[in-house]
Amino acid sequence: MNELPELITKKYKQLFAEQPVIVRSPGRVNLIGEHTDYNQGFVLPAAIDRAIIMAINLRQDDKINIFALDKNESFSSDIESYEKSKMGWPNYILGVIEEFRKKRIGLKGFNCVFGGDIPIGAGLSSSAALEGAVSTAMNHLLNVGLEKLDLVKIGQAAEHNFVGVRCGIMDQYINIFGERGGVLRIDCRTNEYQRFPFRSDDYKIVLCDSGIRHDLVSSEYNVRRSQCETGIEILQNYKRSILSLRDVSHYMLDKHQSEMGDLIYKRCAYVIRENVRVLNACKDLETNDLVSFGNRMFESHYGLSNEYEVSCKELDYLVDTASNIPGVLGSRMMGAGFGGCTINLVTADAIDDFKAKIQEKFSKKTGNKPQLYISSIENGAEILE
Ligand code: GLA
Repeated sequence: MNELPELITKKYKQLFAEQPVIVRSPGRVNLIGEHTDYNQGFVLPAAIDRAIIMAINLRQDDKINIFALDKNESFSSDIESYEKSKMGWPNYILGVIEEFRKKRIGLKGFNCVFGGDIPIGAGLSSSAALEGAVSTAMNHLLNVGLEKLDLVKIGQAAEHNFVGVRCGIMDQYINIFGERGGVLRIDCRTNEYQRFPFRSDDYKIVLCDSGIRHDLVSSEYNVRRSQCETGIEILQNYKRSILSLRDVSHYMLDKHQSEMGDLIYKRCAYVIRENVRVLNACKDLETNDLVSFGNRMFESHYGLSNEYEVSCKELDYLVDTASNIPGVLGSRMMGAGFGGCTINLVTADAIDDFKAKIQEKFSKKTGNKPQLYISSIENGAEILE
């Protein structure tokens, strides 16, 4: 990773013959609290060592020139007249530019080269990292003094309005606010956070990439969101003050189960239980009870697989296999679902055994060797000196 800023800078200088500003913008893990953010609930993510590195500088004219090093693809347009790109990746950048425009921030054209080591589509939020890189860079280069939370909201709005995914706030939030060595419990109602310690000498976060990438992630994601909204609408007939599933008790949900039907009930029940799990998991961190924390991760996976139904057979197999390997405290699918990674909490001395066993079993079962990543917890998006 350390050579990446150098490599990106070199490419930038080659293409544009000038010195750029360099931004590091990380991917993220989420220990627990999945699909709770857009229900105004709690999440427990951390920014990680895998990141996008972006070299960027303003131009004197209105041109936009971007080069994606990993894909060896370029995109050029004009700051006044860009359109959604079929290549996909430019839209995360253009979406951010569009939100800056809405704020009536006087934009200029820019040159940009970026690349990184966040696996794409693996549930590690490479898209939020790209959005965070651009907003952090533009805030710096245009010297507009936007607050961190403004940058978060710009990234999320880019996703909603330009990319077309009605995501919650978690990914963009942790990308900007992440702090080395700690996990953040974000209250997605107030947008405030509390930091919890993560003692990474004793246990490690190991990501296990199933290699599965499903196109249905964004469509099914929006469907889940609507299903939660349907549940809320039904319950609001009984209590008008309910704004989100955050305001709904299990007791109340159960009382109206028959009106909701099984599907909506299951979705809402999962969210209510997952929020409780996050709060309890934070207490576990405070008392350093990682066994209990890990059990909640397994419970979270059960809910995601059976109630929220956003897992897939490969992810279920990875979690099930992990649960039988000594030294594994917890395991669950991570992110939106339908593929990507599982997150595993493994005691430090069991890492090698875990790697060997999970790779062997998964390869035998599916014919594909899963990629494993040990993640350390790093800062959110920052300008590198
Ligand atoms: C994606 C979204 C987040 C969150 C997770 C599921 O990563 O971008 O806002 O909803 O899925 O927890």
